[in-house]
Amino acid sequence: MTKFEVVFITTPAIGQLVPIVEFAHHLINCDPRFSITILIVTLPQRPLVNTYVQSCVATSASTNINFVHLPPVDLPSPDQFQSSIGCLSLFAERHKPHVKQAITNLMATESDLDLDLDRRLVGFFIDLFTTSMIDVANELDIPCYLYFQSTAAFLGFMIHLPILDTQLTTGLAELDTELVIPSFVNPVPPSVLPSVVLEKDGYSFFLQNARRYLEPHALNSVSTSQVPPVYPIGPVLDLTGSAQWHPDRAQHERIMRWLDDQPPSTVVFLCFGSMGGVSGSQVREIAFGLELAGVRFVWALPEPPKAQFGLSDDYMSLEKVLPNGFLERTSKIGLVCGWVSQVSILAHKAIGGFISHCGWNSILESLWYGIPIATCPIYAEQQINAFQMVKELGLAIEIRLDYREGSDLVLANEVERGINCLMDYDNEVRKKVKEISKKSRVAMMENGSSYVSLKALIQELVL
Ligand SMILES: *[C@@H]1O[C@H](CO)[C@@H](O)[C@H](O)[C@H]1NC(C)=O
Repeated sequence: MTKFEVVFITTPAIGQLVPIVEFAHHLINCDPRFSITILIVTLPQRPLVNTYVQSCVATSASTNINFVHLPPVDLPSPDQFQSSIGCLSLFAERHKPHVKQAITNLMATESDLDLDLDRRLVGFFIDLFTTSMIDVANELDIPCYLYFQSTAAFLGFMIHLPILDTQLTTGLAELDTELVIPSFVNPVPPSVLPSVVLEKDGYSFFLQNARRYLEPHALNSVSTSQVPPVYPIGPVLDLTGSAQWHPDRAQHERIMRWLDDQPPSTVVFLCFGSMGGVSGSQVREIAFGLELAGVRFVWALPEPPKAQFGLSDDYMSLEKVLPNGFLERTSKIGLVCGWVSQVSILAHKAIGGFISHCGWNSILESLWYGIPIATCPIYAEQQINAFQMVKELGLAIEIRLDYREGSDLVLANEVERGINCLMDYDNEVRKKVKEISKKSRVAMMENGSSYVSLKALIQELVL
C-alpha cells in the first residue's frame, strides 16, 4: 500500500496556521491516502497560537494530522532587521537545520514501522515568509510547494515585485505615481501597499521571499520568467473557529446569548484581528462614531499583547481607553468584549455588517456568510486587500483604504458615515456580497472550481 506523506511549515501566526490546518483536512478528506505532518515553530510570545496548536494536537489522533514541535530557536537580534518581515524571515532561516532533522526523522521512523507500506514524501509546503525552507527541500530532494494564504491579486504583486524592482529608481514610499500591477485591474496607489514594503528593510526581505516564489519545484530549476502553476483552492475556512478552543468560553457563550436576543441583520460587528488592534486615541474615535450612528454592535477589543512585533500597545485597560461613560451609555445596544471566535459571530443571524481590518481570512469568512464589510485596514497586506475589495471588486464599503499605524486617525464622523452606508439595506454592495456568498459555497462543493483545483493538485502530488 502506498501512503503519501506531506509536510507543512508555516509562519507562527493564527492567520497563517489556521488555513494550513484546514487545508490539511481538505487534502485528507479528498484523498485518505495522504498523511500530514505540520511542523510547529515554537514561539512562546504567541500564546494564542500555542492554545490553538494544543487544541489541534488534542484532536489529532482522529484526523491523521500529526503535529511536530520544532526545538525553540532564539529570535534574531534587533540589529539584524528593521521590519517584522525581516524578523520573521530571519527567524525562519534559523529553523533550517531543525526542519531538515525533523523531516529526516519522520521518514526514518515511518519506513521502520512497516516494510510493506510504501511511504512517499510527496511534498513540502512552505508559506509566504518561510521561503528559506526551499533550501531544505532541495537538500532532501523533495518537491516544494508554496501555500499562499492570501489573495491571487497579492500573489500577483509578489510575483511582479522582482520585475518592478528593476524599474524602480526610488523606494516605493517615495514614488509619486500609481503602480501598474498585472493582477490588478486598476492602477495601485503605493499608499495601499503593505507598510513593510514601503520601508527599505522590509522591501528587501519581501523581494528576497518573492524571488524564491519563482523557483518552481525547487528541484528542476526552470527559468525565473516562468510562473509555477497556481491552484486556487479557497476559500479555506475553519468554520468552527475558535469556539472549540477559546481561552474564555464563558465570554464566548455570553456573546452568543446576547446576539440571540437581537433582531436579524441589525448588529455591526467590529474586529481588528488576532494580532491586537488600534491605538488608544483611535479606539476613542471609533467609540464616538458608534455612538453617533446609534447602531447595535459587538466590538471585539482585546487588550493588546505587549509590543508584539512593534504593534501599538499604548493602552492597557478598556475602562481607561474608552470614552468616559461609553459602556454605560451603550449598555442596551452594544457589547464590548475581548478576543472572540470571529467566524461564530459572523455566522449569527443578528449580524448585519462587519467593520474589519481586512485580514484575508476575515474577508473570506465574512463573504462566506454574506456579511458586507466596511474597511479599516491596519497592517500586513490589509490595505491592498481593502483596495481590492472596494475598488476592484465593489464588495466592501470604504471607511479607509490606506489607514495604518501613524496615519491620521479615522474620525468619529467617518466611522458614523461608514456604518450608515454599511447598514443601508438597499446598498448594491450588500447584494453583491450575497451573490459572492453563494458562489464561494459552490466553489467548494464537489465539482466546484476549488474542488477541481484541489483534485488537480492532488494529481500533481501523487504522480
Ligand atoms: C461531478 O462530476 C462527475 C464527473 O463528471 C460526476 O460523475 C458527478 O456526478 C459530479 N458530482 C456532482 C455532485 O455533481
